Amino acid sequence: MKRSARRASAPAKVILFGEHFVVHGNPALLAAVNKRTIASARIADKPRIAIESNIGAAVEYGPNGARPMMGGRKAVSVLDPICASVRNVLNAHGKNVGIDLRIVSDIPEGIGLGSSAASCVATVAAVDSLFSSHDKSWICERAIESERMVHKNSSGADCYVCTFGGIIHYSKEGGYGRVKPGKVLRMIVSNTGLRHATGDLVEKVRRFREDNKVLFNDISGQAGEITSKALRSLESGNVRRVGQLMLENQTLLKVIGVSHRKSEEIIDLCMKSGALGAKITGAGGGGAVICLSPSKQESRQILSRLVKEGYESMEVNVDHRGVVVGKSEISRSVTRS
Ligand code: PMV
Repeated sequence: MKRSARRASAPAKVILFGEHFVVHGNPALLAAVNKRTIASARIADKPRIAIESNIGAAVEYGPNGARPMMGGRKAVSVLDPICASVRNVLNAHGKNVGIDLRIVSDIPEGIGLGSSAASCVATVAAVDSLFSSHDKSWICERAIESERMVHKNSSGADCYVCTFGGIIHYSKEGGYGRVKPGKVLRMIVSNTGLRHATGDLVEKVRRFREDNKVLFNDISGQAGEITSKALRSLESGNVRRVGQLMLENQTLLKVIGVSHRKSEEIIDLCMKSGALGAKITGAGGGGAVICLSPSKQESRQILSRLVKEGYESMEVNVDHRGVVVGKSEISRSVTRS
């Protein structure tokens, strides 16, 4: 029997301010950006979950565990959170069926652009739409639960911004709030070419904090202030100030040991080519750098300089759609939690 597939897509994300410090109770600012992951799901004839991704990974999850079909053990670790998302939705619907899932993504993986969160969000939405269609809050909660089954310390902010789109402010006490930027943000994301393991870097910062309690408290306080100032500057459209604050944030990230020689080189190239500011985005240790540009012309200059130096780079804009199911967009409502 031929069964029809359902599709959903979700955007990438960048952390504008506050990565790492957010793990220790500080606020963070994140933005969804216009690179996407598409998940296509169909009910399978066999009682197993088969996931295939265009990054060269395919795994069959059956009663005897995970069987890599392409990409070996690494494929299993990349696809585990996605399988958790499928299972989570099937459980929520009380369905005991097999699923074939195909992931097609143009989000570079393992460099801090939220490829895992986007895959989980798109997967939850696609599998959900095989049975019914819940709203974005439901999709977001299921995706966060699924990511946490695999990455216990995940703050959930990635899934949130991938689900709802736009720019969000997140803090442990205040929850999530949507930020309305006073001006359009022109951004460039550049890849150091070094993939990172978020868990290892979070652990590195935890050890730094243990060994440097007073210093870390001080830096953490400064990071919180920078994020608050950045929020006000974003809202008032003072992009020049946002750029300066990015550089200040980067100085702190360097002190806690999550920057990298290549990240510093990219930041330097961006600033020499007319950027307003630049910093690592996400866990660091290589990964991606985000740069803020004042105009189209500077963006072109920055891009060509980075590419000339061998750094894969792309222009990105804020994505305001978040998760999209099939062709029709679902509820845009944002709730504070
Ligand atoms: O590189 P990413 O997207 O995994 O970023 C992780 C951000 C951290 O603040 C380092 C961890 C977290 O859970 O917030």
